[in-house]
Amino acid sequence: MLYSPKKLFLLFLSCIVMNFIYNKSSLVTAANNIGLNYGLLGDNLPPPSNVINLYKSIGITKIRIFDPNTEVLNALRGHRDIGVTVGVKDQDLAALAVSEEAVKGWFATNIEPYLADVNITFITIGNEVIPGPIGPQVLPVMQSLTNLVKSRNLPISITTVVSMSNLGQSYPPSAGMFTAQSREQLTPVLKLLSQTNTPILVNMYPYFPYASDPVNIHLDYATFKTETVVVQDGPLGYSNMLDAMFDAFLWAMEKEGVKDLPVVVSETGWPSAGNGNLTTPDIAGAYNDNFRKHVVSGKGTPKRPNSGVDGFLFATFNENLKPAGTEQNFGLYNPTDMKPIYKMF
Ligand SMILES: *[C@@H]1O[C@H](CO)[C@@H](O)[C@H](O)[C@H]1NC(C)=O
Ligand SMILES: *[C@@H]1O[C@H](CO)[C@@H](O)[C@H](O)[C@H]1NC(C)=O
Repeated sequence: MLYSPKKLFLLFLSCIVMNFIYNKSSLVTAANNIGLNYGLLGDNLPPPSNVINLYKSIGITKIRIFDPNTEVLNALRGHRDIGVTVGVKDQDLAALAVSEEAVKGWFATNIEPYLADVNITFITIGNEVIPGPIGPQVLPVMQSLTNLVKSRNLPISITTVVSMSNLGQSYPPSAGMFTAQSREQLTPVLKLLSQTNTPILVNMYPYFPYASDPVNIHLDYATFKTETVVVQDGPLGYSNMLDAMFDAFLWAMEKEGVKDLPVVVSETGWPSAGNGNLTTPDIAGAYNDNFRKHVVSGKGTPKRPNSGVDGFLFATFNENLKPAGTEQNFGLYNPTDMKPIYKMF
C-alpha cells in the first residue's frame, strides 16, 4: 500500500514511449456495484446488525471482512443480497499451509455454519502477505481451499489480497514489473487463479504517492477530477492515477505470462484527516465518490477498456485502534453516530 520515495521519483520521470502492444479485449462492458470494506479495528464501532442496515439503506451489495468474525457473519444471516468476501487471518496461514486436514477444519468452523444463509462469494487467503516472509504460505492454502470448494461444487472464489508493493517498477504503466520476490511468490498464485479465471485482489491507493509528492503530482490526477490525459504511455493515455496503477499491475502480470486474469480493487480510499490540507473531508469524499462513479460506469482502464473496474472502498468506519494519524481516518462514516463524514450515498 506504500510507495517508497525512490519509486515515486521513478514515477515522475518523463514518460517514455515503450510499447505499442494493443490489448485485445472482449466487447462486453460490465458495470459493477461499489463494495465496502468493513474493518473492525475500533473500540467504538456500532453493532454489526446496525451496520448491515446501513449497507442496505445505501444500496451496498458487496462487503469485505478481514476475518470470519462470528458476530458479523451472524448479523448477515438472511441478507443474501449482500455478497461477502471473507479473509483468512494471516496468523492462521502457517498451520493451514502444511495440512489439508487443517484447511478442512478451518472451513468447517468458519464458513460452513453460514453457508445456508450468508452469501459468501470470496475467501481471501491473507491480506498483503505477498511479498513477504509468510508469502509462500498462500499457495498451498489456496490449492487446498480451491480443491475443497470444487469438490463440494460451492460457488465461492478462492483468492488472495496483495498490495502494489509487488511492483518493482510501475511507471509508465507499460514498464510495470514484479520484484524478484514477487515473481517467486505471486506468479504461481496468479497461474493457479488463471486456471479458474478467479480474480486477483489488489489494494491500490493513489493517496500515498500523491502525499509523498503533492508538488509534482496533480491532485486532480490523483482524485479523478480531470478528463485530460496527464500520462501518455505509448498509445494509452491516463487521466487518473488509479487506472495507471491498475494497468501497471496488468502489464506486470502479462510479463509473467498471465494475460487475461481479472483484477479487482480490494481496497482504495482517501483519509479525511491526519495530514493537513491533503486530507480533508472534501478531498476524501471527492476521491471516493469519483472512484464509485468509475466502478458503476462500467468503464475499464486504458489497457483493458471493455471490462469495467470492480472494487471496494476502504473503509466503512474510522477505526481508532489503528495507528494514529491518517490510518485512523479512512472511514466514510463516524463510528459513534454512524453519520457520514462527507456526502456520498
Ligand atoms: C450474492 O452476492 C453476489 C455478489 O454481490 C451477487 O451477484 C449475487 O446476486 C448474490 N446472491 C443472491 C442470492 O442475492
Ligand atoms: C496545501 O497548502 C499548501 C501551502 O499553503 C498549498 O501550496 C497547497 O496547494 C495546498 N494543497 C491542497 C491540496 O490544498
